[in-house]
Amino acid sequence: MPVIIEPFRIKVVEPIALLSREERERHLAAADYNLFALPAEAVTFDLLTDSGTVAMSAAQWGAMMVGDESYAGSRSYYRFEKVVKDLTGYRHIIPVHQGRAAERILFHLTVGAGSILPSNTHFDTTRANIEYGGGQAEDLVVEEAAQTASEYPFKGNIDLQRLDDFCRRNIGRIPSGMLTITNNAGGGQPASLENIRGCSRILRSHGIPFILDACRFAENAYFIKLREPEHASRSVADIAREIFRLADGCTFSGKKDGLVNMGGFLALNDDSLASEARNLLILTEGFPTYGGCAARDLEALAVGLQEVLDEAYLGYRLATVRYLADGLTQCGIPTVRPPGGHAVFIDARKFLPHIPARQYPGQSLACELYLSGGIRSCEIGSVMFGRQDDAGRFVEPPLDLVRLALPRRAYTQSHVDRIIEIGGEVAVRKDQIRGLDMTYSPPFLRHFTARFRPASR
Ligand code: F0G
Repeated sequence: MPVIIEPFRIKVVEPIALLSREERERHLAAADYNLFALPAEAVTFDLLTDSGTVAMSAAQWGAMMVGDESYAGSRSYYRFEKVVKDLTGYRHIIPVHQGRAAERILFHLTVGAGSILPSNTHFDTTRANIEYGGGQAEDLVVEEAAQTASEYPFKGNIDLQRLDDFCRRNIGRIPSGMLTITNNAGGGQPASLENIRGCSRILRSHGIPFILDACRFAENAYFIKLREPEHASRSVADIAREIFRLADGCTFSGKKDGLVNMGGFLALNDDSLASEARNLLILTEGFPTYGGCAARDLEALAVGLQEVLDEAYLGYRLATVRYLADGLTQCGIPTVRPPGGHAVFIDARKFLPHIPARQYPGQSLACELYLSGGIRSCEIGSVMFGRQDDAGRFVEPPLDLVRLALPRRAYTQSHVDRIIEIGGEVAVRKDQIRGLDMTYSPPFLRHFTARFRPASR
C-alpha cells in the first residue's frame, strides 16, 4: 500500500522547543511534576489535547478576513448557519464560544432535581453541567468498552437493551438521551450507524429527545465507512448527514472536528426550547447572530466544517493515530485497542507493574515521556479519578491510562516517528521509572493543579 501522506503542504510554521534533558528536569521540578503547570514553550510535542489545537487552513484564514463584525444580522452568521443547516438539518443554529457553553444552556433549561440522562459515556463537562443542575448522568456504553485489548470495532456503542430498560424504568425523568461521537472517554471510540439508528428508534419510541454530543462527528462517520461494510461506498458527508438527522439536536465544540481554535454551537429542532436558549444566550454569551464568537470565528468554523469531511484528510488523520499506536505497541508499550480517532491511550498500569496505583503509574509515565523527549500527555487514571474512602484508604479506578491526543494537521510524520522513538527509549529503561507521591490535592478536578514529588522508594 502506498504511504498515506499529509494531504497539505505547510505555509506558516511555528518553532517548537528543543530542550536538553537537564532543562526539562528543571521545568518539571518547578511544575511539581504536573504537566498542566509547564509553560507550553518547554514542550516539544504537545499531545495534551486535540481541542482547539488545530492548524487552520489558508482558506480559513482567508475567510476570517471577510468576517462581518456587525453586532446584529452579520453576513458571517448567515453563511455559518447555512453550512450547519445543510450538514445537520436542524432548524435552529445557536453559536456559542465552545462546547460546554452549549451544554450549560441546554441543561440549564432542561435538567432539574430528579432528572436522569443516559449516554454511551458522558464527557466530564457534560456530566458536570448535568450534575450542577441537580440531575444525574448515566453511562450505558457496551461492555466491550472496558476490555482494553479487545479489537471490537465500535466500542463507543451504547448498550441498546440497557437503554430501552433504562427508559422504561425512568420514564418521565429523562429530559433527553445523548450519544457522544466519537466516545472521548474510551479514547475516541466510534459508535456504529446501526447503533445510532437503534438509539434514535428507542428514544423516539419513548418520546425522549435525542441530543448528540457531536464534537468528533466526522471521525466517527469515517470509522463507519471503514468498518460497517454496507456503508463503504457512501461518502462520509452523506453518512454524517444521516447521523445528525437521526437526532433532534446537538451540542458541538468546534475545537475538535470544526477545525477551529475557538467556537461551537447548540442546534435544536424544538422551536420553543430554541427560543428559550436564545434568551439565555443573550444573557451569558451574546446576541444570537454571534453567540460567544467573533464573526470571523464563525467564518473559520463554516469553512472548517466543510474541510473536515474531506476523505483524504480523514484517511490521513486516522492513519496517523493508528501509526502511532502500532509504533508504540512494537516498542512493547501496551495501548488500548483498537486505536480511536483522536488519541492513543497507553495502559500505564500494565506497562509499569512495579508502580502501585497509589503511586500513580500514569502520571509517572507521563512525566518520563516529558523528561525523555518533551512529550506532554495527559494522565487519565489514579490522579484524575482516584480518591480516599472514609477510612482514608486509597480507592483506585479500574485503569491507569496516559492519553496522547493528536492535534489536527499540526504535526508531521517525522514528529510521530520521533514520538515512537522516545517511547522505545522509555520502554528500554522502564524498570527504573519511579512512582510519585502526591503532596497537594485540591478539593475537585485535582489533575489540573495537584502537586507531586518522586516517591521515596
Ligand atoms: N464533549 C466532548 C466529547 C469533549 O471531548 C469536550 C472537550 C467537550 C464536550 C467540551 O467542549 O472544551 O469546547 O467546552 N474535550 C476536550 C478534551 C477538553 O481534551 O478532550 P469544550
